[in-house]
Amino acid sequence: MDLYFFSYTGTCQSIAKELGSLLKSTPRAIKTYKLPYFLWLIFSFIPNLQVKISYEKPTSPYGVVIFPKWTFNCPPITTFLREVSFKKLLLVICYGGWREKPYGEYYKNLALRKSKEVKIYYIKRASWERNKASELERLEETVLKTFGEEG
Ligand SMILES: Cc1cc2nc3c(=O)[nH]c(=O)nc-3n(C[C@H](O)[C@H](O)[C@H](O)COP(=O)(O)O)c2cc1C
Repeated sequence: MDLYFFSYTGTCQSIAKELGSLLKSTPRAIKTYKLPYFLWLIFSFIPNLQVKISYEKPTSPYGVVIFPKWTFNCPPITTFLREVSFKKLLLVICYGGWREKPYGEYYKNLALRKSKEVKIYYIKRASWERNKASELERLEETVLKTFGEEG
């Protein structure tokens, strides 16, 4: 399966790295401009805003995308999910602590325009930092359940 991540402060990158080494899949970064926090914060309040990104094109019909919860919008992810299509896609959202569910639903609906089947999974940042091993186990189980033998 193709494993993608976007990360600003490193948490999603660390989740992608750990999951990638468990599943023997090299994580691929979704790259964009290096902007200061306050600019990303402003952009995160603008629904549907997109930015220029670069990434290695998908090679599998199965995808996992790990990204942060940003107010209403994470612009690099909005661009990415409007461009790629998968047969099955798992969205892994890492959040600080508030309003992750409506955000997840927004991205699920966006991804469903291009991808056939989309599932969402949430990880709280503090919980990842405190219990990496058990969080990773829980995530791996979800990935295996989602893709089974196929992925
Ligand atoms: C611009 C911005 C907006 C954020 N908005 C939210 C938010 O609305 N809700 C929340 O729970 N966390 C929010 N966070 C916290 C991130 O979701 C959390 O720190 C996440 O782990 C960051 O992942 P990263 O380290 O891979 O960048 C925000 C972080 C940033 C940088």
